[in-house]
Amino acid sequence: MTGQNAGIIGMGHSYPEGILTNADLEKMVETNDEWITTRTGIKQRHKAADNEYTSQFGTRAALQALERAGLEPTDIDIILCATTTPDQIMPSTGALIQAQIGATNAAGMDVFAACSGFLYGLTMVESMIRTGQIRYALVIGAEVLTKYVDYTDRGTCVIFGDGAGAAVIGPVPEGKGILSTKIKSDGRYEEQLYAPGGGTKLGTSHQTIDDRQHFFKMKGNELFKVAVRSMADISAEMVKKAGYTVDDIDIVIPHQANQRITDAVAARLGVPDEKVYSNIAEMGNTSSASIPIAIDECIQSGRIKEGTLALLTAFGGGVTWGGTVIRF
Ligand code: COA
Repeated sequence: MTGQNAGIIGMGHSYPEGILTNADLEKMVETNDEWITTRTGIKQRHKAADNEYTSQFGTRAALQALERAGLEPTDIDIILCATTTPDQIMPSTGALIQAQIGATNAAGMDVFAACSGFLYGLTMVESMIRTGQIRYALVIGAEVLTKYVDYTDRGTCVIFGDGAGAAVIGPVPEGKGILSTKIKSDGRYEEQLYAPGGGTKLGTSHQTIDDRQHFFKMKGNELFKVAVRSMADISAEMVKKAGYTVDDIDIVIPHQANQRITDAVAARLGVPDEKVYSNIAEMGNTSSASIPIAIDECIQSGRIKEGTLALLTAFGGGVTWGGTVIRF
């Protein structure tokens, strides 16, 4: 690719202190720790308090990422906040975070691509930096999913958790940063994971509230198959496009959807388990936040170092998916 390479130059993450364990869920719906653990790999998830909301976590993650990048909020040209659980319908959570961090030179907006949102954001700012249109971007994945989860539906309520991760993206030397990236969607699968109520199609009414239409609805086992196929295929394509083979990849950071999805994607790609990062046991599925949280954890623990070749892949409602190969 010609032009300026773009890469991650600072990361941060944040999540609520509140924890919802499998034992807590056993008291809310007919489920048990053994079922949740074997079907999903999840042991606990973080849950925001009633007075906590998405932009707060996004802001904390963004400020940490800026500090680690050695930049000021005013250095940022664009803030893309990937979220499906915004503070409110308008203005965007990206604009609210812009105000909270004082990024007065930036444009703030949201990326609405469910669990793939962080890779959507990365892909968009990569080309903006490559072409010289901007210098520094903040890409944030921030979610408070637990406020959209129906705690009477055992099929969805065991999966989701809250949190945020942020990346400062900027110019990096040739051979480093984002080497290949691609995003895709297929809206025909709309009803595999959706929240039908509260928009212009099914506007908020007493009826929609009584019918619980504002909560996430999911066809988990159908989603499972499409997710595995889509993530594995786009990953293989992006590794090849970057000029590598799967064996060259040092670490795979998949969206933390379900441990069985992660295992199946790794098996399909032929990547050994020890190269695949997972924090799903402690974090659950935090949608667009899962990849940036995982990257930051890997940097902090030393699993990602200067020179590490990483494959990121995501899948989410829409359906949406993406793959990115990045050299740190
Ligand atoms: N506890 C106990 N039993 C449960 C349960 C729970 N929390 N949730 C569902 N079940 C039951 C179902 O009712 C069903 O019972 P039945 O056979 O009597 O009808 C049985 O378990 C199997 O349900 P199924 O939905 O086929 O299970 P599954 O193995 O597909 O696992 C998911 C369900 C949701 C864990 C799994 O499909 C999944 O994780 N899918 C992907 C979800 C995802 O990643 N979403 C986000 C995408 S980004």
